[in-house]
Amino acid sequence: MFKTIEWTDEGVRMIDQTRLPAEEVYLTCRDYQEVAEAIRSMVIRGAPAIGVAAAMGIALGVKKSAAKSLKDLRAEFETMCDTISKTRPTAVNLFWAVKRMRGAFEDFLTSGGYLGKVPEDASDLDRVALMIPRDGSEADMIVALKSRMVVEAQRILAEDIAINEAMGRHGAALLPEAGTILTHCNAGALATGGYGTALGVIRAAVSQGKAIQVFADETRPFLQGARLTAWELAKDGIPVTLITDNMAGHFMKQGQIQAVIVGADRIAANGDTANKIGTYTVAVLAHENRIPFYVAAPLSTIDLSLSCGDQIPIEERSQREVTHLKGVAIAPQDVPARHPAFDVTPHRYLTAIITERGIAREPYTESLKALFTA
Ligand code: MRU
Repeated sequence: MFKTIEWTDEGVRMIDQTRLPAEEVYLTCRDYQEVAEAIRSMVIRGAPAIGVAAAMGIALGVKKSAAKSLKDLRAEFETMCDTISKTRPTAVNLFWAVKRMRGAFEDFLTSGGYLGKVPEDASDLDRVALMIPRDGSEADMIVALKSRMVVEAQRILAEDIAINEAMGRHGAALLPEAGTILTHCNAGALATGGYGTALGVIRAAVSQGKAIQVFADETRPFLQGARLTAWELAKDGIPVTLITDNMAGHFMKQGQIQAVIVGADRIAANGDTANKIGTYTVAVLAHENRIPFYVAAPLSTIDLSLSCGDQIPIEERSQREVTHLKGVAIAPQDVPARHPAFDVTPHRYLTAIITERGIAREPYTESLKALFTA
């Protein structure tokens, strides 16, 4: 199985998703600016994967820093966080990850680098993070802080995979014993640290013995469904059929789709969900055809600071991604095009939101908030 993203001694290694499915090639980013560019250019994409990349980018920046004082390192750290935060605006996981790295950085400094006794059940990673001398020199502190940042980023990756598996366990029960599930975009192993959110639920259902096949929307204009979802499901031996985005209604009306499951980039407190452009259309069609429509997303995708979906910033990407396919014009030269990369599905179209802590249903304002305290 491929690794979407991993930490290596050379840098942050990721599968280049712009080159799939034609080529399975890996790119190693050697500084945080390269990680930022990989996020911006969608070498790595998908909300949770963007979060992991953001954390690893910051860890790489800190590790590579030549700062001689903690004051200088903190100033550089702020620039790193700022650069990473400006790559893509919609997936809140990116800002969540930056906040978490900032928290680890500040905790380290306020605790003087000594984070307490090593608990019995600490993992190897935890041990590295915890075994830091109390009275080190500033140079020692910088060395220790660097490893603390790397450990935090690696933890975020490991946690993400475990979260997806938990989401799979909760969500699989919602899928039928047999049937066809429609998905939009790619919310799989490629979009996360591994396993996937929406595709993780499908993977869990299949591993429980359910006879599930997947219809994958191609997902114009970036073709995440055709290029990525079809690729990773086929690699996993899960039956997948590719359809163009405008076919979903037809198959629903014919009774050929039993449920829809998608991921999310940001979920507001009332359940309104930003996901890949076209998701709203699919949700309305599912509602019209009385087909359950599920969103699978970790708590790090839920933004309780926004009361509703109108407040979610929607990334507008290059027109060229609409007018050209692999550099070839598919529209008249100079015709204006629009490219909002995401849309917002109002919560009334959602049957349920699947998270690692369980299933949320209407009223989402209460059920989502409750998950954070569960
Ligand atoms: O523009 P992308 O490819 O980053 O958009 C990805 C999506 O919209 C996914 O559905 C979403 O991030 C969920 S990924 C588990």
